[in-house]
Amino acid sequence: MSSYPKTDRLMQRGADFLGSETAILCGAMSWVSERNLVSAISNAGGFGVIACGAMTPELLETEIAETQKLTDKPFGVNLITMHPQLFDLIEVCDKAGVSHVVLAGGIPPKGSVEAIKGGANPAKVICFAPTLALAKKLLRSGADALVIEGMEAGGHIGPVSTSVLAQEMLPELAEDHIIFVAGGIGRGQAIAGYLEMGAAGVQLGTRFACASESIAHPDFKKAFFRANARDAVASVQVDARLPVIPVRALKNKGTEEFTAKQREVAGTLDREEIAMEEAQLQIEHYWAGALRRAVIDGDVENGSLMAGQSVGMLKAEEPVADIIQKLMAQSEEALSRR
Ligand SMILES: Cc1cc2nc3c(=O)[nH]c(=O)nc-3n(C[C@H](O)[C@H](O)[C@H](O)COP(=O)(O)O)c2cc1C
Repeated sequence: MSSYPKTDRLMQRGADFLGSETAILCGAMSWVSERNLVSAISNAGGFGVIACGAMTPELLETEIAETQKLTDKPFGVNLITMHPQLFDLIEVCDKAGVSHVVLAGGIPPKGSVEAIKGGANPAKVICFAPTLALAKKLLRSGADALVIEGMEAGGHIGPVSTSVLAQEMLPELAEDHIIFVAGGIGRGQAIAGYLEMGAAGVQLGTRFACASESIAHPDFKKAFFRANARDAVASVQVDARLPVIPVRALKNKGTEEFTAKQREVAGTLDREEIAMEEAQLQIEHYWAGALRRAVIDGDVENGSLMAGQSVGMLKAEEPVADIIQKLMAQSEEALSRR
């Protein structure tokens, strides 16, 4: 890779932590972040992360082994905290010698961080921090690094924008901790800005979802190339009794179907047929199925086209290495102009 001295310097801590050439992570994307994309990202100098999603421990074991065949560079595994077999999945990562585990989807359950760090092959733990108070708590409880992700991002989102989270958290945390910024990043100029504010690196999802190495269906990719920022909308909660985490996706028929699904699940909750935890799990299974329909089957009408607002900047398929080079060059150019 060419040299980008100013960007490299600001990314040094993040890259050392990840064991990669650049501190650019490709955030885990269910169905998309599998062996091909993850190994391509790590081979190109970034940091790939397998999306475990709803995989069984056996499937995750295979995915890790297949990824290891395609790259000898480090990569991470993203585990969803509400997965019923979370601790078995942690054991799979430990046995396979995975260097970094990302815990997503809520506050890590008791003992999970300890299990990741205390196995035969201790891994580093990366968590998502939605607020400053929680960020401090997670760092006290053993998280080695944090991702702060704004509501511009694709997939499950919080309520606050990336620019506000970065201003709130980086001045307090970035000097002593490794903080990665995610959500809405489409160009290197934005990366330069967050690095200057103290971020150790950045995480992108949408920008990489349509890379040449991504196995996403050609129709899924076409929908991304056609979309504008305003087409990537957050899902709406229709029933106050059923708290669902909003999901940002391109609007289509599937967006309406989700409203119906929420009503159906809220009904079963009302009739006390299921508990709240089960209701939330059903919602998550719904998303996993809908995303699979779009990413794998190419059903862009009824499936879920999870995408962030940066989708409007995507115009064509590009190899991962070109995307990373471009982001680094844009960041370097911005820093050089300062
Ligand atoms: C199609 C898609 C699927 C995603 N799936 C997951 C997931 O399974 N777990 C997770 O932690 N984040 C998931 N994300 C979020 C990404 O990891 C990443 O943090 C986010 O895309 C960054 O924001 P950006 O889309 O604006 O680049 C997903 C994002 C997209 C676009």
